[in-house]
Amino acid sequence: MKKFNFHVKPIGLLDMLNFKKLVPNRTQALAEGSPERATASYEVNKLATYLHPKSQQAEITEIIEHGEIAKTFILSGKELAPFRAGQYLSVKLEIGKSILTRPFSISSSPKWVKEGKYALTIKRAPNGFASDWILENWKVGTKVSVSGPEGVFYYEPLRDSKNVVCIAGGSGITPFLSMAYAIRDGIEDFNMTILYGSCTENEILYKKELDQITENCDKVKVIHVLSKEQSSCYEFGFITSEIIEKYAEGEYSVFMCGPSVMYDFVGKELEKLSLKSKFIRREMLAAPSSPKKFKEYKGKIDKEFKLTVKRFGEVLIVPMKAEETVLIALERAGIAVPSKCRGGECGFCRSRLESGEIFTPDELDARRIADIKEGYIHPCCTYPLSDLVIEVWPEQGEQYEEKH
Ligand code: FES
Repeated sequence: MKKFNFHVKPIGLLDMLNFKKLVPNRTQALAEGSPERATASYEVNKLATYLHPKSQQAEITEIIEHGEIAKTFILSGKELAPFRAGQYLSVKLEIGKSILTRPFSISSSPKWVKEGKYALTIKRAPNGFASDWILENWKVGTKVSVSGPEGVFYYEPLRDSKNVVCIAGGSGITPFLSMAYAIRDGIEDFNMTILYGSCTENEILYKKELDQITENCDKVKVIHVLSKEQSSCYEFGFITSEIIEKYAEGEYSVFMCGPSVMYDFVGKELEKLSLKSKFIRREMLAAPSSPKKFKEYKGKIDKEFKLTVKRFGEVLIVPMKAEETVLIALERAGIAVPSKCRGGECGFCRSRLESGEIFTPDELDARRIADIKEGYIHPCCTYPLSDLVIEVWPEQGEQYEEKH
């Protein structure tokens, strides 16, 4: 019979002994009515809290300008959580009366965390309420509250091909810049070909940084594709199946990050290449500002409804537009509710629908079947079709701050 050898370090042994005592300790604590013993701090819990913090406090220590269109903010803090290249941070904001979050991909190398730093690159967006506010208001010295690293848009050798074609549009380059740094720094190991679509040469973000990486690391290649400017140095037009085939090598995965129009266009181009579905991955998008984009939407976009919100025994009634998500109506009213991805993926905004008609686009609906049956919704990707009554909860372990 095969023998297994387990090597347990002294600290791990202590954890195992503590773990053995967990149930008797808790039973005794319950019997004594003492909550302290039941919440004793274990090393493994401390590690879990460090790796997956509910929130992190940081300060902006440097700002790098990218012309008129974008800025990179360097966030510094103590014991920032490590991340996988490609993950995002959810930033908490208070703009006027609104309390909201926005997810932004981390653009720095995972190596920076050892120096207590993350970089977030934020681009001006048409009608970009939060991004424009950040660009105008965040200065060196601004204190920022962010989530732990979130999201599953990273390289996974068990699933992804060793060759990855990364298709980026505009600020969608940020997770790929982080992945390219991770390859250069020896943290990740795969061959990366970035097809980066921009309108003009001036709008290319991180040109210098990408050039420096490709000069020093032969596992990373970058091809710029300009849609509004012709030059012998770059490809011209959109990122088509022909361009993908021209630069892809062997079997490959495709990762995409960019605006929804890019996903629509490139998605159709990828159909021509007949790739296995596991080899096509895309960064999730926040739910669009209007449900009109979805063919299955049958609501009346110009309607206004009443949203009744129950939380901790109190009842609030706020207005809600048919063309906005329930989460936006809550945020506009200054009602603090948990949210991170804003695209239906993380489940952090999970709330219970007591009554009313809703529309949840199929492509954003990641609820469990049991949750759908029990009437739970993700307000970040739920649009109202009538007046609604919902019950919401604060983040675990947090109390609502009264904002009204
Ligand atoms: S914020 Fe992630 S599912 Fe709603």
